[in-house]
Amino acid sequence: MSSWGNAIKISVFGESHGNGIGVVIDGLPAGEKIDFEEVYLQMSRRAPGKDKAATPRLEKDFPEVMSGMLNDTTTGAPLCAIIKNTNTRSQDYGNLAVNPRPAHADYTGYIRYKGFNDIRGGGHFSGRLTAPIVFAGAVCRQILSRRGIKIAAHISSIGNIQDKRFNGTDISKELMERLSKTVFGLIDQSKEEEMRNLIEDCRKNLDSIGGTIECAVVGVPAGVGSPMFYGIENVISSVIFGIPAVKGIEFGAGFASSEMRGSENNDEFYYDGDTVKTRTNHHGGSLGGISSGMPIIFRTAIKPTPSISRPQKTVNLVDHTDSTLEIHGRHDPCIVVRAVPVIEAAAAIAIVNLLAEVQML
Ligand SMILES: Cc1cc2nc3c(=O)[nH]c(=O)nc-3n(C[C@H](O)[C@H](O)[C@H](O)COP(=O)(O)O)c2cc1C
Repeated sequence: MSSWGNAIKISVFGESHGNGIGVVIDGLPAGEKIDFEEVYLQMSRRAPGKDKAATPRLEKDFPEVMSGMLNDTTTGAPLCAIIKNTNTRSQDYGNLAVNPRPAHADYTGYIRYKGFNDIRGGGHFSGRLTAPIVFAGAVCRQILSRRGIKIAAHISSIGNIQDKRFNGTDISKELMERLSKTVFGLIDQSKEEEMRNLIEDCRKNLDSIGGTIECAVVGVPAGVGSPMFYGIENVISSVIFGIPAVKGIEFGAGFASSEMRGSENNDEFYYDGDTVKTRTNHHGGSLGGISSGMPIIFRTAIKPTPSISRPQKTVNLVDHTDSTLEIHGRHDPCIVVRAVPVIEAAAAIAIVNLLAEVQML
């Protein structure tokens, strides 16, 4: 379903080429002043056409708040924001209802919704549906920031080109601040050219490329998370998997921890004044699903953009024959760049929920 959450509920609605898309967030604390310049900044990081590696489909992705706010302050009533759809070219999508795109949701959506799903622009499966998620995240991250919690993500790899990783025990405010405002966010900015060249090479070859995004949440106090099924990792993952093109997530040392010994992986405790900290952060800020007070760090795998312009083999769902497909339309050769602010937004939505769950919001 496109509704999620316990203490705070979020519903995302709309289709890529319908009248509009939007979100309802229910259960937010009242009296939270929201800086809309900051909201627009986050939304423009995700918007197409802002980066030269992104799709040229230019849109005014600005949300119109329909309810739940007065004088830019939350009222406690459901907060609803709508983004109108403009600049759509539905004729590019005509044959996909019959010839599903490999790796996209055309085939599974057709089966699940008996052919009634809106296929135009990917319909409800479109990456465009991440705009309302970024709006919701931009509101949530301001509520969190007021409570000393900061969120930032960066492109940790494109193909096999790697950025540096966060230092799990010491992430500077300056780095968090820079990353949370940039479009092509890297820790080691010297990697940008190489990554851009790889993306451009894929575009020229009518191909696409995947990558990973690493996200850090700093300032969550110890003791947040409700195991077994509403722990830090459960809740973050469940929002993250709502983002199209996400194929994996790992916390802290993640899959690499399976190759370690306990003596390497265990993060030893110490007192920093009155605060318990760990000397390393292989656990990624979560032990038993409960926050340890160390930065929560997770990495997400993003697959290559499904829509590539090369001829591909598919099936004709009407004739029941094998067929060939050539995709037109405007598609990013790499989703990773625009997905960075979406991952941050998903983390903000998850953390707001986790805090509300333990009455710490
Ligand atoms: C920000 C963003 C932009 C996307 N843009 C495209 C795109 O231009 N073309 C495309 O085929 N898929 C794009 N996708 C991915 C598809 O929406 C996604 O692969 C598809 O819905 C199938 O879902 P799944 O990959 O999660 O299985 C985008 C995803 C995101 C997060």
